[in-house]
Parts: sequence; structure tokens; C-alpha cells
Amino acid sequence: MKTCVITGATSGIGYAVAMELAQMAHCVVLVGRHPEKGKGAVSRIRKDTGNTDIHYYNADLCSQKEIRNLGESIRQDFPTIDVLINNAAQWNSRYELSEDGIEKQFAVNHLAYFLLTHMLYSSIASSDDGRIINIGSDSHRYGKINFGNLNLENEYHGLKAYGQSKLANLLFSYQLHRIKPHDSVSVYCVQPGLVKTDIGVKHTSWLHRLAWKLRRLGGISCETAASNITYLATSPEVADRSGLYWDNRKPKPSSAPSQNEADAERLWRKSEELCGIEDYFGKAKEAYRYA
Ligand SMILES: NC(=O)c1ccc[n+]([C@@H]2O[C@H](COP(=O)([O-])OP(=O)(O)OC[C@H]3O[C@@H](n4cnc5c(N)ncnc54)[C@H](OP(=O)(O)O)[C@@H]3O)[C@@H](O)[C@H]2O)c1
Repeated sequence: MKTCVITGATSGIGYAVAMELAQMAHCVVLVGRHPEKGKGAVSRIRKDTGNTDIHYYNADLCSQKEIRNLGESIRQDFPTIDVLINNAAQWNSRYELSEDGIEKQFAVNHLAYFLLTHMLYSSIASSDDGRIINIGSDSHRYGKINFGNLNLENEYHGLKAYGQSKLANLLFSYQLHRIKPHDSVSVYCVQPGLVKTDIGVKHTSWLHRLAWKLRRLGGISCETAASNITYLATSPEVADRSGLYWDNRKPKPSSAPSQNEADAERLWRKSEELCGIEDYFGKAKEAYRYA
């Protein structure tokens, strides 16, 4: 039985992953931003699977303060975490800044992955087979990290911000794989494919909503996408296959910019600065060194 934490677990792909992990009898920790929606998701999962080891934590992942509080609470309640799935993301038509002054797609789609992983790293390192799964996208292929203007101020477009954030998911995953102090922790970045979800109808203009509704007609179901993610979360076959980009249960090459180690290092430092992190692996690293 594994303890699995999933962000964005109240709808779409994240909810389907939570349901499947619950069916497999794992302990599932859902993270969402609306308490009522969270309560509903937990009771449906418990009812449909008979698994009562299902928990809910609320946080708006736009807010670093809320991510830190979330991380503290989960870490206290679950000193060992086997799987962290950074899944929550949004697609915003309009330029919006978070309370921390960060463009919201960059804040939720990248910095929340970065900061929550930092907060939970010691619990993940306590597992014999800790896995961090970052949900990325092939949209990273049109992305560019605008180091001089990460907020894309005065040059914002939803697609540009989404592409940047999804490229950041890969740079983060590869860099985390390269520098993590524990061999027992594996890192995966996975692209779920085109999936029939509401991601393009939540924070979008009518035109973008229409475009997404047409585009998603050709998509796969959340359950199909979820099964490829639970495979990475649970299969012994991939336990020693850290640091790869996955699609449909197979590794595949990501874009050349996503493999740029200098950019990965630069983004890491910038993300530490934006999140106010001084020592990413902290005590977990020390415990390992002296074990
Ligand atoms: N759908 C696709 O075709 C596709 C393709 C490639 C990659 N992806 C990736 O797959 C992942 C899941 O997306 P999805 O398509 O399943 O979209 P979705 O149905 O909209 O799910 C996104 C989840 O993130 C949560 N979320 C968004 N902003 C949040 C915030 N500020 N704080 C806390 N939670 C927040 C949402 O909460 P609510 O339930 O409250 O809305 C929702 O549960 C994302 O990383 C996305 O980039 C999707």
C-alpha cells in the first residue's frame, strides 16, 4: 500500500488518477482549491471504491503561503510519502498576477510543483521507492523560458504562458533528477496526451473556450490518461527509470530546449529565489549524508 499525494485532484485527470489509485487500495491524499468540491470528491471515491483511506487538503496553489501551509500539514500527517503527483494547472486567457506578484500560469503550473516538492521532499525521501511525477505536456515544444520577463508582462498570451510553464515542468524534472541526493527517489515527467477535460473552459475568454471545446472532441478520456500516470506511480517496471519524459507508458525524447542543462540550472536558481528557498533538500540531504 502506497501513500500518494495528488494536486488538482477534484476534477479532470487528477480526479481519475485519485479514483484509480483508490481502487488499487492505496492511501490517497487529494489536494484541491474548493473545500466543497473536495468533500464531494472524497465521498464519491470512498463510495465507489470502498477505500476509506482517502484524505483531502485545501490550498490555492497560486499562493506560496498556502502551498507552504499545505506542505507543513501533509508532512506532519504523512511522514512517509511514496508518490507525489504534481498535476494541478490552469490555462488563463487573461494576464493575471498571483498575490506573490507572479503570472498565474507560471505560479501554478511551475512554481507550485517546485515549492510543493521542496516542502514534501523529506517525506518522499523516507520511502524506499519515492516517486515524483510532474504532469507536463507536448505543448512544451512551442514554449520558451523568458528569463528576462518570466511574467510575460506586456507580451502575454495564454498559449505563450502555457508553453513556458510546460517547458519549465521538463527543465525542473530533469534538473531534479540530476541533483536529488537520494537514489531511492525517482522523477518522471509525463505528457497525458489530448484529454477531454475542462482545463480550457475555466479561466478563459469565450473564444478560447470555444476553441478548446472543439479541440478536446478528439481527446482521450480522463480514465485512459490516468491509467498511464498510475502506471508510473505504481509499476515496479519503472522504479529505476528516473529522469525521463513519458508518453503512453513509454519514454520519448522531449524538445532540445528542454534538455538544455544551463537553462535548467538557471530556472532552478530563479525558482528558488522566487519561492524564497535557501536549501532545497535541506535536512533530508543531511539525514542521507550521515545515515
Ligand atoms: N487536458 C489535456 O489535454 C492536457 C494535455 C496535456 C497536459 N495536460 C496537463 O494535465 C494536468 C491536468 O489538467 P486537466 O486537463 O485535468 O485540467 P483540469 O480538469 O482543469 O484539472 C486541473 C486541476 O487543477 C486544479 N487547479 C487549477 N488551478 C488551481 C489552483 N490555483 N489551486 C489549486 N488547484 C488548482 C483544478 O481545480 P478545480 O477542480 O477546482 O478546477 C483541477 O482540479 C495539467 O498539468 C495539464 O497541464 C492536460
